[in-house]
Amino acid sequence: MKGIILHGGHGTRLRPLTHTGPKQLLPIANKAMSQYALEDLKSTGVTEIGIIIGDVYPEKVKEYYGTGEKFGVKISYIYQEAPKGISHAVRLCKDFIGNDKFIVYLGDNVLRKNLNDYTKKFEASDSDAMILLCEVDEPQRFGIAELDKDNPGKIKKIIEKPKEPKSNLAVIGIYFLTSKIFDIIDNLKPSWRGELEITDALDMLMNQGNKIDYDIVTGWWKDTGTPEDIIHANKLVLDSIGTENQFLIDKDSKISKNIVIGNGTEISRDSIVTGPAIIGKNCKIGPSVRLGPYISVGDNCILKNCTLEESIIMANCDINAKVDLSSSIIANSSEIKGNKIPKKQQFLLGERSNLKV
Ligand code: DAU
Repeated sequence: MKGIILHGGHGTRLRPLTHTGPKQLLPIANKAMSQYALEDLKSTGVTEIGIIIGDVYPEKVKEYYGTGEKFGVKISYIYQEAPKGISHAVRLCKDFIGNDKFIVYLGDNVLRKNLNDYTKKFEASDSDAMILLCEVDEPQRFGIAELDKDNPGKIKKIIEKPKEPKSNLAVIGIYFLTSKIFDIIDNLKPSWRGELEITDALDMLMNQGNKIDYDIVTGWWKDTGTPEDIIHANKLVLDSIGTENQFLIDKDSKISKNIVIGNGTEISRDSIVTGPAIIGKNCKIGPSVRLGPYISVGDNCILKNCTLEESIIMANCDINAKVDLSSSIIANSSEIKGNKIPKKQQFLLGERSNLKV
């Protein structure tokens, strides 16, 4: 089986973070969010992967993943000139896929459980598609599947972001498909948002008498559409992080469990790190820093005098200020300098920001 990762799209809801790169490269626990999709595909045995790149810094995607060799997969890049919809992106992959069964993974979706059981089930079945469903609180935000009460195991309708949802089962952004989907997409019309929707293609596939299986995922799944979603995904991933801190220089620092610390990072004796947390390579933490819980700090950061929790600090940041930040995202190479801010703050800073407080 081959895999497709969708790495295009607008990323407008994540501005200013997406002014300097595609949203799928934003880090969650110090790893690009789309790398979770790639690793998930690889661990289920899919090593030939097509990455859809769009018009938001496609060169950065190529620079990050290259040929795929360092990730143990073979990558082909497929260019989508404008974000005309998930189905539009899938249709561009017809030649790459041929007659194989394949898996489409949205590059901004992160799933706790690996795909092995689902992949085996789909490979062994004669189904024309398989989707994964997850119960959600705000069904209006997602593609929704309505199950057929009279026919257990069957789906009645698949609909994109209904105003009045008849179910709370979201269709998650991992689709198991066969080449039958391509002819269906050729007959699709754009939706109210002007896109060729994958939900419309699946619904049409079903209405034409084809067989669609589904599974309901247990454990968490996250669509990282907004900054709040990214902070939440960071927490969920950090919840299962182990402990790896053999490179700690000052062994007397107060470091709890579930913390990964990169090579060459120094933490001062008067600083406290509370897990779960991940700190990259070659960082200088201290004096008087309080980090965590739920904090990700990228490589080469210098942090002094600050208190940070439930936040993402990307690589090469320099914070020397008595700030107390929560639920914040500070993009690469940003600086925060200055004196005390009296209460907890929430910042969302794009790349190379410079903030005096
Ligand atoms: O996350 C699950 C949801 O994803 C599903 O429940 C919906 O049915 C599905 O339509 C999709 O909804 P979103 O509105 O969240 O899709 P979004 O526009 O954010 O695009 C999803 C990913 O696909 C994102 O990584 C960008 C990429 N993309 C999107 C479009 C429209 C492309 O690569 N090309 C595109 O043309």
